[in-house]
Amino acid sequence: FGDKPLKGQKLLLTAGPTREAIDPVRYISNHSSGKMGFAIAARAAEMGAKVTLVAGPVNLPTPIGVNRIDVQSAKQMLDAVMAEVATQDIFIGCAAVADYRLDKIAEAKIKKSAESMQLALVRNPDILATVAAQDARPFTVGFAAETHDVEHYAKDKMQRKKLDMIAANDVSISGQGFNADTNALKVFWPQGCEELPATDKYTLAGQLLGLIARVKEAR
Ligand code: C5P
Repeated sequence: FGDKPLKGQKLLLTAGPTREAIDPVRYISNHSSGKMGFAIAARAAEMGAKVTLVAGPVNLPTPIGVNRIDVQSAKQMLDAVMAEVATQDIFIGCAAVADYRLDKIAEAKIKKSAESMQLALVRNPDILATVAAQDARPFTVGFAAETHDVEHYAKDKMQRKKLDMIAANDVSISGQGFNADTNALKVFWPQGCEELPATDKYTLAGQLLGLIARVKEAR
């Protein structure tokens, strides 16, 4: 394969947070920067893949050669992914998808009146698990951000969501994960595991993609 181990492969990934509207001016979201997902998209394109990146709201430039689809909510992210997934060889769920959305989005700005108020939330669809549940599915890779018992929870998540591989990071270690420029991963697949020590997200993305190419090829 030389320096293009993903040559000819179609790779779809999600990145960034999702934004769940409360009313026309407010939303619920999280601190995901999208840096890891964008680094993976950039490296995958350099490694020869045809890359489609479904991105939540982030402040990052589109990597060279990458087809980017911008979305806001988890439902929009799911729709964009499902419209593309049938033709893909690899799917990587990198996005920090909001677990809940508003049951009803207010049509007009909510006025302040009472001293307290409650928002009713409902569960969002699990995009990664939905992809993994397809009959003819791509090689499906998930991420797991954990604060403790990383291996236990990552392996459990891989089995529950029926993934081909999971990349876990310990977000309790400062300088790693959310918003940081560096990260370290413990990668598990049904037949093995590999530790990718702390380095910049761009280098790490290349190492993870190399591993994906190797494990997928050996299947
Ligand atoms: O269950 P948990 O949210 O920890 O799983 C994380 C993995 O699942 C990530 O790969 C994330 O992109 C994906 N995910 C998803 N849709 C959701 C929640 C998580 O695709 N609604």
